Amino acid sequence: MAEQRPPILETRGLTMRFGGVVAVDNVDFSLAEGELRCLIGPNGAGKTTFFRCLTHIYKASAGEVLYRGENITGSHTHQIARRGIGIKTQVPSVFDGLDVRENIWLSARRHHKERETDRAVDAILERIGLTALSKRLVGRLSHGERQGVELGVVLAGDPELILLDEPTAGMTHEEVHRTTEMIREINRTASLIVVEHDMQFIKAIANRVTVFNQGAILVEDTMENVLRNQEVRDIYLGKREVA
Ligand SMILES: Nc1ncnc2c1ncn2[C@@H]1O[C@H](COP(=O)(O)OP(=O)(O)OP(=O)(O)O)[C@@H](O)[C@H]1O
Ligand SMILES: [Mg+2]
Repeated sequence: MAEQRPPILETRGLTMRFGGVVAVDNVDFSLAEGELRCLIGPNGAGKTTFFRCLTHIYKASAGEVLYRGENITGSHTHQIARRGIGIKTQVPSVFDGLDVRENIWLSARRHHKERETDRAVDAILERIGLTALSKRLVGRLSHGERQGVELGVVLAGDPELILLDEPTAGMTHEEVHRTTEMIREINRTASLIVVEHDMQFIKAIANRVTVFNQGAILVEDTMENVLRNQEVRDIYLGKREVA
């Protein structure tokens, strides 16, 4: 039997209201150390808002966030990052006018001593498969390559828990495949929560899947069971019919 480890992340009653909209609705969530969880749900289900509450980009209206059992609800975003939670948002956070290496270097320097930074950057470039592109301006990269750099910027913070919001959005089939491999590799040393819409990608990486709907957790199960779940099928089909 595997030894029982405490969850790396927990939320209790986490709630985020925007005026009358309850974007995150009383969410109790738990992620085991080393786990790779996928978060799915229709547009507007509250996935991004949930991530933003976890990292205090938004101040939650109610509830608690616990990291390794410690309450981090009121901590600043940069303190949360320093504690080991890295986030890749849907909004780009790289500098087009700098090259790949410089972008990752800037992020790494915040977490490493000057002497160690170069070595850390080299290791990350290898890990994300961008060593050959290290001198290329980020503004000149393809969309998928940029996404790779974004991931590198997150990894440079040496996170133990990584939150990825739609990492494969706009990627080619080949890039999605490479990202799948990369995420599996990252999961050997870090826990992850990945928000995605691409079902093939989720099938390839996920063990457990959490389905959000209208700010709340609808189901948590294996991908296989989630795909068979009638309520899940209804919310997705409902959306598609509307669209
Ligand atoms: N800053 C904000 N101000 C007001 N309402 C917001 C804000 N951010 C999100 N919302 C609302 O909260 C709800 C959840 O949005 P959120 O972006 O978290 O959904 P999502 O699951 O990430 O959707 P998508 O799959 O489209 O990215 C939506 O109704 C959205 O309009
Ligand atoms: Mg979103």
